[in-house]
Amino acid sequence: MKDISYHIMDIVQNSLNAGATTVRVDIRQDSSAGRLTLQIADNGRGMSGELLRQVTDPFFTTSVTKKVGLGLPLLKQNAELTGGTFAITSEEKKGTTVTAVFNSNHIDMIPVGDIAVTFKMLIAAHPDRDFVYNHRCNDEGFSMDTRVVRTELGEIPLNHADVLDYLSGFIYNNLKELKNEDQL
Ligand SMILES: Nc1ncnc2c1ncn2[C@@H]1O[C@H](COP(=O)(O)OP(=O)(O)OP(=O)(O)O)[C@@H](O)[C@H]1O
Ligand SMILES: [Mg+2]
Repeated sequence: MKDISYHIMDIVQNSLNAGATTVRVDIRQDSSAGRLTLQIADNGRGMSGELLRQVTDPFFTTSVTKKVGLGLPLLKQNAELTGGTFAITSEEKKGTTVTAVFNSNHIDMIPVGDIAVTFKMLIAAHPDRDFVYNHRCNDEGFSMDTRVVRTELGEIPLNHADVLDYLSGFIYNNLKELKNEDQL
């Protein structure tokens, strides 16, 4: 079963493959509207208009090691199954933004999953890239920005075990607080 954190891993991987140095992940939850918006924006190489049209076709890939690309079509499908929407914009040499809107009360809504572990894995594997994560739920929210953490750390790499534990703990605790807020 795919969840939101799985899609984050998948779509961020596309951004990293496209040479992005900074990837932004934004999640916005609105309980009264029953809506969850996931937006992933990168500063990678972007796509031509023609490529952009093709990637929204199922199974298109520019990978030479396999024949089908599933990352974008699966996210599109999961958003649309809830009656939501999917959009992708891109500009060559500038970057790409993927936006999926879910109707979170729909029976086919997927779980959020473990976002703390997802970022822990991404930062562990790519300590030289920057990740900005912003999560808002109604009127509450928090953010994590590895650019800020990187400056504070000085010589210590982002994938130092203690740093990874600190960052995933920070996300985990903040998400727990947002969840409590949501149920009020
Ligand atoms: N952020 C991005 N920047 C530039 N090109 C992208 C980006 N995301 C996707 N693409 C292009 O769209 C294609 C399709 O992406 P998609 O995630 O659907 O499949 P894939 O990455 O090729 O394979 P899979 O995700 O199944 O491993 C990619 O091969 C790539 O050419
Ligand atoms: Mg992909």
